[in-house]
Amino acid sequence: MYLALKDILRLIHPILAVLVVFPLIGIVVFMAWQTRQRRLQVAAEGKSKIPPVVGQEHVQLGRWLAAAVVLVELLGISRPMLDRVMQDQLWQTVPFKLTLIALLYLATIASLVLLYRARPKRWRAVFATLTGMGIVILSYQDLAILQLANPAIYRRNEEWLLSHFYYGVTVTLLMVFSLAIIQDIYQDRENRWRTVHIVLNSIALLLFVGQGITGTRDLLEIPLSWQEPHIYQCDYANKKCPEPPPAKQSRGTLPSFPATPSPLALSPSRE
Ligand code: HEM
Ligand code: HEM
Repeated sequence: MYLALKDILRLIHPILAVLVVFPLIGIVVFMAWQTRQRRLQVAAEGKSKIPPVVGQEHVQLGRWLAAAVVLVELLGISRPMLDRVMQDQLWQTVPFKLTLIALLYLATIASLVLLYRARPKRWRAVFATLTGMGIVILSYQDLAILQLANPAIYRRNEEWLLSHFYYGVTVTLLMVFSLAIIQDIYQDRENRWRTVHIVLNSIALLLFVGQGITGTRDLLEIPLSWQEPHIYQCDYANKKCPEPPPAKQSRGTLPSFPATPSPLALSPSRE
């Protein structure tokens, strides 16, 4: 197998996104559409064939979706960070800062749990703000807290319009905001919060599509761990890699083949 433990750990995030988050998005959006259709049909004709329970089911699965997105986001930023901690043995040089980061993870998760439980508007606002702040600070932990010269969460590239990182943080904050305003959507008779929810979560849907595209692009670009020393020697701007050393040739013999056979050569023979 070509995968090392580091590569397998890296795959957990995309696997969860593909197997849990994206199917949930499909169901939640389908039910969102039905909830809206039902509400408009009842307002216009007084009845609808869509069952009334669809709104509740949208919210129930929406709550799971929000939690899954926060989890996937935290996994996305934590694996590169843990990798750096192990590689540079940071617990020896900055143990206090690492403890602070660990506490921040706990505080962020606790705030999220409390946001799920809170009913009064003030507490929902407090816990949503704390959760959001935790997510943003943790997403910049390598720069903001550890102040590493060479960032660990490295895929905040300058191409922010195509950045998996910025899309990911924004869409996670939008999910936290959705959690915070559930009661307001129900209580507002003029449907202003409902409209806010629809506008923001339509943007979230576009960002999710962006995550699907930028995430698969990133999977294609990131080398396997044992390939890193070679691949990172390449000049990305000019799309050039160092030339391999010339094969040793002695007069009268054929050039030798590369030492490592290609994966194709390893495949079972067809005979
Ligand atoms: C991509 C994700 C989402 C989209 C596109 C979306 C969109 C919508 C739409 C179109 C409606 C119907 C509005 C109407 O009646 O006109 C709705 C209702 C609602 N949504 Fe979402 N939503 C999403 C995720 C969430 C999440 C994550 C939550 C909560 C955690 C949530 C909570 C609610 C609530 C409370 C309602 C009102 C339901 C009712 O009237 O029974 N939504 N949403
Ligand atoms: C809800 C959807 C998603 C969110 C919120 C999300 C968020 C993030 C964040 C914040 C990071 C860390 C910053 C970075 O390296 O860019 C990250 C890393 C990454 N994401 Fe996603 N992502 C999502 C979906 C996906 C999908 C669908 C894929 C691929 C199929 C993917 C592949 C990756 C990869 C390969 C990394 C690098 C991980 C590492 O180095 O350990 N992501 N993601």
